[in-house]
Amino acid sequence: MEHATVVVSGTKIAQETLSNRSEVWRLIQQLRGLGVDVAGHPATGYQLRSVPDLLLPEVLRPLLRGTIFDEHLHHFYKIGSTNTAAMGAAAEGAPEGSVFLAEEQLAGRGRGSNSWQSPRSTGIYCSVVVRPTLPPSEVLVLSLAAGLAVRAAIQQVDSRATPDLKWPNDVLIDGKKVCGILTEMNAEATRVRYVVVGVGINVNQASFPKDLAATSLRLVTGSEWSRVELVAALLKSLDREYRQLLEDSDARESILRRFAENSSWVQGKAVHIEENGVAFDGTTEGLDQRGFLRVRTPKGTQTVLSGTVRER
Ligand code: BTN
Repeated sequence: MEHATVVVSGTKIAQETLSNRSEVWRLIQQLRGLGVDVAGHPATGYQLRSVPDLLLPEVLRPLLRGTIFDEHLHHFYKIGSTNTAAMGAAAEGAPEGSVFLAEEQLAGRGRGSNSWQSPRSTGIYCSVVVRPTLPPSEVLVLSLAAGLAVRAAIQQVDSRATPDLKWPNDVLIDGKKVCGILTEMNAEATRVRYVVVGVGINVNQASFPKDLAATSLRLVTGSEWSRVELVAALLKSLDREYRQLLEDSDARESILRRFAENSSWVQGKAVHIEENGVAFDGTTEGLDQRGFLRVRTPKGTQTVLSGTVRER
């Protein structure tokens, strides 16, 4: 990976892969068919014109040194859902910090019964396993922290982007959704066994169906983004938020404050709420201590625990 774009002769590749030059030629043709930009031919040698933007553990590991995410990175070209894979692996004992990344999801899941469109190598589909010593009631704060981590990662790559956090788990730009977070857990009544935080970011999509209020980082900035750079920034930022939450007694308050500061939805927004089959209108009035959304209605202030929030 350190010298990824040097010219390498077909003979050398054949030696190193224990095959022959015509087999190397066949494999190079296969890579080209998958969209990898390889120059050259058996006589002159081969050269990667550019390093493919794949979320490979070999590429990410050096960028994640010192975080809880640098050891157990799992990459899939195709998978049903990284959250399903991560929950299954966690049930089998996968350690804290395990990361599941996919180039494409065939059954990407959103909150509730929604699906998550996950076309090949255009978005980030990433799920992490953590085993926090927190009661289940604190897990929402962790999920809000993931939103802050996504926001920070986007801004680190392009400081002109202005992501808006929508409670509980969306990141919007220009009022359209650029990221969704699905946090799932397995817990006893008082103790979390494991949590999976699944992050889907629309990165290089060139268009979306009109009926989806969605956008991508490419659409808002006009240029392609490196998914490798963005996912590394995301996992570093998530590592920081997570460590603080476990180690620092003021972290919960800080997450709630920063979430509110970076959200146009938390305070004074006229909203329509749907929760467990009940719908009501009101105006948002901040977050309570556990991170739930408070909404002022003509009948008094209501606390939204898991509902869908829309602008009125
Ligand atoms: C939502 O906004 O409804 C949440 C979307 C979460 C999508 C991500 S993509 C990676 C992970 N795997 C899934 O199946 N879902 C999450």
